[in-house]
Amino acid sequence: MSNVKIFVEKDYAALSRRSAQIIKARLEEKAASVLGLATGSTPIGTYEELVRLFNAGEIDFSQVTAFNLDEYFPVTKENNQSYAYFMRKNLFGFVNVKETNIPNGEAKNHETECAEYEKKIAASGGIDLQILGIGNNGHIGFNEPTDVFPSVTHYVELDASTIKANARFFANESEVPRHAITMGIKTIMQAKKILLLASGAGKANIIRDALFGAITPANPSSVLQLHHDVTVIVDEDAGKFIC
Ligand code: F6R
Repeated sequence: MSNVKIFVEKDYAALSRRSAQIIKARLEEKAASVLGLATGSTPIGTYEELVRLFNAGEIDFSQVTAFNLDEYFPVTKENNQSYAYFMRKNLFGFVNVKETNIPNGEAKNHETECAEYEKKIAASGGIDLQILGIGNNGHIGFNEPTDVFPSVTHYVELDASTIKANARFFANESEVPRHAITMGIKTIMQAKKILLLASGAGKANIIRDALFGAITPANPSSVLQLHHDVTVIVDEDAGKFIC
């Protein structure tokens, strides 16, 4: 798979440093890059490292436009479980990103919001570098396992397994929103470069299946095998079945 570059790092800290260095290198090549960003536990270390590099004067986001992958729906921007809140607390509140975009969890009409978000990505010239985490069930963004690869930005019902996995961030499982807006698989696959991150033994099976399993919408992450430029960074635990 010459289109997929794999880094297996010693631990989560090393994974996060490698990932931040790849983002930094992209911004050095193209200061006005369009970045696709993810939330969840996995990119937190990367964002911490980006903030450190920014404070050290080693990275500049002043020409960067960012698009997040997804957002719960409905959710207010002030809700501390919203992805808007997550991004402020982990990255946007500390660096000088020129323009940030996250699907609007407060939109009146989710269909209109999805169409407008997709249009805005296209109008920006498209995503130069998309950062992805991966769900235990193979979801990327909130593209859950299904029968066909979902196309563009759309409204989804979250999988029971995703609700369970995300319950760790909420007081209890019943508080996890049941719906979200997510970039589609086509939206993600149109990114010029993809950076997939995974940490911990719990991700080892799905990382093996994503990279070497059957390409099927039953495992949405498997579609990445068809992308022309994917970099995967795992720690030794998540990478134990691929090396
Ligand atoms: C988050 C997202 C999700 C997560 C995935 C892994 O914006 O799109 O696909 O990347 O659920 O989450 P963590 O990193 O918490 O294991």
